[in-house]
Amino acid sequence: MDKAPYLARKAISGIIASANTGAVGLKRSLGPLSIMAMGIGAIVGAGIFVLTGTAAAEFAGPALILSFILAGIACAFVGLCYAELAAMIPVSGSAYTYTYATFGELAAWIIGWNLVLEYALGAATVSVGWSGYMQSLLLNFGLHLPPALTQATGTVLRLDDGREVTALLNLPAALIVCALTTMLILGTTKSTRLNNIMVSVKIAVVLLFVLVGAAHVTPANWTPFLPPNTGEFGHFGWSGVLRGAGVVFFAFIGFDAVSTAAQEAKSPQRDMPIGMLGSLIICTLLYVLVAGVLTGLVSYTELDVADPIARGIDAIGLGWLSAVIKIGAIVGLTTVILVLLYGQSRIFMTISRDGLLPPVFSRIHPRLQTPWLSQMLIGFAVAVMAATLPINVLGQMVSIGTLFAFVFVCGAVLYLRRYEPGIARPFRAPGVPAVPLLGIAFSLLLMVGLPASTWLRLVVWVAIGCGIYMLYGRHHSLLRRAGP
Ligand code: ALA
Repeated sequence: MDKAPYLARKAISGIIASANTGAVGLKRSLGPLSIMAMGIGAIVGAGIFVLTGTAAAEFAGPALILSFILAGIACAFVGLCYAELAAMIPVSGSAYTYTYATFGELAAWIIGWNLVLEYALGAATVSVGWSGYMQSLLLNFGLHLPPALTQATGTVLRLDDGREVTALLNLPAALIVCALTTMLILGTTKSTRLNNIMVSVKIAVVLLFVLVGAAHVTPANWTPFLPPNTGEFGHFGWSGVLRGAGVVFFAFIGFDAVSTAAQEAKSPQRDMPIGMLGSLIICTLLYVLVAGVLTGLVSYTELDVADPIARGIDAIGLGWLSAVIKIGAIVGLTTVILVLLYGQSRIFMTISRDGLLPPVFSRIHPRLQTPWLSQMLIGFAVAVMAATLPINVLGQMVSIGTLFAFVFVCGAVLYLRRYEPGIARPFRAPGVPAVPLLGIAFSLLLMVGLPASTWLRLVVWVAIGCGIYMLYGRHHSLLRRAGP
């Protein structure tokens, strides 16, 4: 029998004790509004600026609005579970740590491995979106990049003169990853003020798009609202709404970052649900408005482009606004890439300290005080993925990997309520067991909507993870070395 769950359960009190010690120094200064702002800052990104277009064009049509609502509901249930665990076990590593403390080291490793999909592949996805908007902005100024350097490897591009070019790599996507990785290594990104400004710009741009766009929509573009299914699962009709939800679920990723604020909330029991659900409700509202306006401005069939929001603005014919929106989108996407690259290195640090990854991932630079080697390795891998893979493949992998981790987060709440009822819970999710069970059901539902090829990639990814555990983690694990 695998003794890891037993050992891990023994370790849970230790994790919580050390986390609480660590938390003592943190000031409880965040109210519900600050938590909400933090959430919105972490959430709004490539999901809304980029994937909205492809999801409408390929899967849901104007009914993408319903996909956003479905994905938002799923996140609300999971969010409440996250908040309970984050308040109870306030250490970095999120879903990985919760799984470690409940289901043992192997399950935790698999979840940690899936979080790579959320963070590292997420960063690559957003970088490809960044590249799309940057290229589009450069075009406003008459600057063309060599076509072979603008798209994922192997993409066939048809040029204006009819010639076909096969792309080598997406150079701007790789470059932005390298630039932000350098900033993270140097530790120059801690400026909260700069981050707040960038977040405000991104929200302002989304609002501007909705306000200006709403006055120019052509209602005929909303008919049919739910285009009939083509005969293939996931291509329009209700299954298309479901697949659309799985794809735009990406747009909500990042709300879990809010859960890490639990230990700094003035009154977690009150502030966490308000802050988390509040940011989710505001984002869902923004997304529904953007999807509605966008599919009203341009026929959904024309939205399969790298910069759909700019495409919508171009349809209005306001040149200056188009450039403003693109700059706002670029700024907004930059903040999300930063958060994801940063998050990945911190999760690796936690996993490495448990002995499941080599010590290089937790080595801190003596002067810079950053995990520089780990950050560099992550930056390299993310840059390669961003340069070579198309955004749709990346985005769907991020969605499925994150949803998979969410199932474990909800499961952890159920498990700990049953087996560790005595642990102090600064925030208790309401409606247990219904809320975690609904969180699991909705996450699985969104996963079911994703294509078979994405499932296959998930299976291969988990298999590679298991291989690494067998070859490395199993032999170096702290828990196993500590003995029973
Ligand atoms: N939710 C983030 C985005 O849409 C990851 O870019």
